[in-house]
Amino acid sequence: MTTVATAPGADKLAQNIAADAPTTHQPLIDFVAQIAQLTRPENIHWVDGSEAEYTKLTDELVEAGTLTRLTSPDFPNSFAAFSDPADVARVESRTFICSERERDAGFTNNWVDPTEMRQTLNGVFDGAMSGRTMYVIPFVMGHLEADDPKFGVEITDSAYVVASMRIMARIGTDVLRKIEELDAFFVPAVHSVGAPLEPGEQDVPWPCNEEKYIVHFPSEREIWSYGSGYGGNALLGKKCYALRIASVMARDEGWLAEHMLILKLTSPQGKSYHVSAAFPSACGKTNLALIDPTLQGWKAETLGDDITWIRPGADGEFRVVNPEAGYFGVAPGTGWHTNANAMRAIAKGNSIFTNCALTDDGGVWWEGMTEEPPAHLTDWQGNDWTPDSGRPAAHPNARFCTPIDQTDMLADEYFEPNGVKLDAILFGGRRKTTVPLVTEARDWNHGIFFGATLSSETTAAAEGAVGTVRRDPMAMLPFIGYDAGDYLNHWVKVSSQADPAKLPKIFLVNWFRRNRDGGFAWPGFAENTRVLKWIVERLEGEGVAVETPIGMTPTPDALDLSGLDVAAEDIEDALKVDREEWTAELAGIEEWFARFGESLPESIKAELEELRRRLAA
Ligand code: GTP
Ligand code: MN
Ligand code: MN
Repeated sequence: MTTVATAPGADKLAQNIAADAPTTHQPLIDFVAQIAQLTRPENIHWVDGSEAEYTKLTDELVEAGTLTRLTSPDFPNSFAAFSDPADVARVESRTFICSERERDAGFTNNWVDPTEMRQTLNGVFDGAMSGRTMYVIPFVMGHLEADDPKFGVEITDSAYVVASMRIMARIGTDVLRKIEELDAFFVPAVHSVGAPLEPGEQDVPWPCNEEKYIVHFPSEREIWSYGSGYGGNALLGKKCYALRIASVMARDEGWLAEHMLILKLTSPQGKSYHVSAAFPSACGKTNLALIDPTLQGWKAETLGDDITWIRPGADGEFRVVNPEAGYFGVAPGTGWHTNANAMRAIAKGNSIFTNCALTDDGGVWWEGMTEEPPAHLTDWQGNDWTPDSGRPAAHPNARFCTPIDQTDMLADEYFEPNGVKLDAILFGGRRKTTVPLVTEARDWNHGIFFGATLSSETTAAAEGAVGTVRRDPMAMLPFIGYDAGDYLNHWVKVSSQADPAKLPKIFLVNWFRRNRDGGFAWPGFAENTRVLKWIVERLEGEGVAVETPIGMTPTPDALDLSGLDVAAEDIEDALKVDREEWTAELAGIEEWFARFGESLPESIKAELEELRRRLAA
C-alpha cells in the first residue's frame, strides 16, 4: 500500500507519482498522473488487494458511516451500505457510447460526439476528487493465467468501490505484476462520485452528484463514470467493461461477450454438459445458475450467474468463462426456499449488502429472505419498520455482493483459465403468452433469430393483462457497446470460426407463460430441471420433438414429469404453439426489425420470411 500526498504543480506531481508508484509501467504512471492532475485528489492510494488493506478500508468506511458492520453471527465479516435514495440503480438514460460515428452506436444507445463529450468530462472531472483519496485499482476480468488476459485499471475516489471491486474481480499486486510482465494493454477506467470536499468540510455517508455520466469510448476502450457510487455505474469492471467495452473487443477479435449465466449439468450417466443462458435483468439468471435439480441422479454446478465470455477454441469448439469473481445479485426474492445455494454462499460472510434492511440483532433482511418477516427492522432508509408499515423494508434493487468461491456447488471448471466447451445456449424472457416453455432452433442462424427477437414483458403490467413487450436482443439491450445490427451480424459471422458440428445448440425458453386461468402454466424454479433434461436429450440426438412453424418443441410426454403434481392442461398451455398468437407476434417482430435500418443482417431478415412462410403453410 502506497499513499502519496499530491502537491500542486503538474511536473512536480508527475514526478512525485512516478517516485512513489509501486510500478515502473510507464503507461500506467502516465494515466495516474493525468487523472491526478485533472481531478486534484488529496492523496493517491495504489490498491494492493490484500486482506490487511481491505480491513483498513472497511474500518475507515465504518468510521465514515458509509458501511455498517454486521454483528450477527449469521453474516460474518460482512457490512451493510445504504446509498443516497437518488442513487439506487443503473442509469440507462445517462449511459453513453461515444463512437466516432453516430451510426456505430446504433439505435439502442445514447450517442454524443466524442470530442464534445471529452470537453464535458474535462469540465465535470476538473477538481472532482479534491479533498478525497484517489484509489488506483489494477484488475483483470477473467483469469490472470488466461491466454489473453483482459486488464483494466480503475481510478476511483470511492473506497466502497474498492471494497466491492475486490469481491467482484481479481485485483491488486498480482495483476499489476502481470501487466508489467506482459507489457499489456489495460482499459483505463475513471470513476468519481462527483463530490469534491472543501478543506474542513464534513463528508456525507454516500457522496454522489445529481448529474451523472456513464461514458464509453469504444475506439479507445476507455470508461469514464461520474456522479454515481452504485453497482453497475461505479464497479467499472462489470457492465461497463465486461459487457459494453468487451463486446467491442469481441467484435474486433472474433468472440462474444454476453449477459449470460453458465451452468454445468451432469446426467445420471455421468456425462457433463455446459449450458449458458441469456435472460434480461430480473428474469431468473441467478436462480437458474444456482438450481437444485429435482430429478433423481441429476447434478447441477455453477460457473457464473451474469456475464459470459465465449471464445472459439483451437479445437473448433466454443469455450466459455465467467470473467467475474463474485455475485452482485438482486437480494429481494433470494431466500432459503427459493435459492438456498445463494443463501449458503451469503452465510459464509465476506459480503457487502447495499440497500437491504437491518435486523435488530445486527444482520440484514430483505423481502423473500424468509417466509415470515421479522417483527421489527430498520429499513434501507434508516426508518423503523414493522410488517404493517405498508412499504418494502429493502429497496427492490437491493443487492448482495458475495465472493463466488463461497458457493458449495461451484464447478471446478470455474477455475479453468481458458474456459470449458459450451454445449447449449438458452435465450429466455418473461412472456405471458405466445412463447412456449421450450423451443429448439433448427440451426445456428435460426437460434440467432431467437436471440434477435428476444422479448420480455415489463413487470409493471397489470396482472392478467398482456404486458408491454420490450424487445431485448440476447438480453443485451442496455449493454451492446456498438450498433445492434452489427452485433447480430457478428453473431452470424463468429460461427465461421467454429466447427459446425461442434456449435452449441440454441433454445428459446419461457418460464413465465400463463395458463387458461391466468396462473403460471409451468412451476418453474427447480422444476426447470425437467426442461434441462429434455435439452440434454436433444444434444444427444434423443428426446421427442415436434416440428412447428417456430422450431422444435417437446410433446407433453417428451418431458419427464415424474413426481410432479401439475395438471395436463397446464402442460398443454405451456407448450402450445398458437398460430394466431404468432401471427400477431410477426407484426411485432417486423416493427422491431424496422428499427435496425440497413444494418440488420440479411440472414436474420430471411429467418423472418421463413417464419412467415411456415405460419402460412
Ligand atoms: P440481473 O442479475 O439483474 O441481471 O437479473 P437475473 O436474471 O439474475 O434475475 P434474478 O434471478 O434475480 O430474477 C429473479 C426473478 O425471476 C424473481 O422475480 C423470480 O421470482 C423470477 N423467477 C426466476 N426463475 C423463475 C421461474 O422459473 N419461474 C417463475 N415464474 N419466476 C422465476
Ligand atoms: Mn443476477
Ligand atoms: Mn445482469
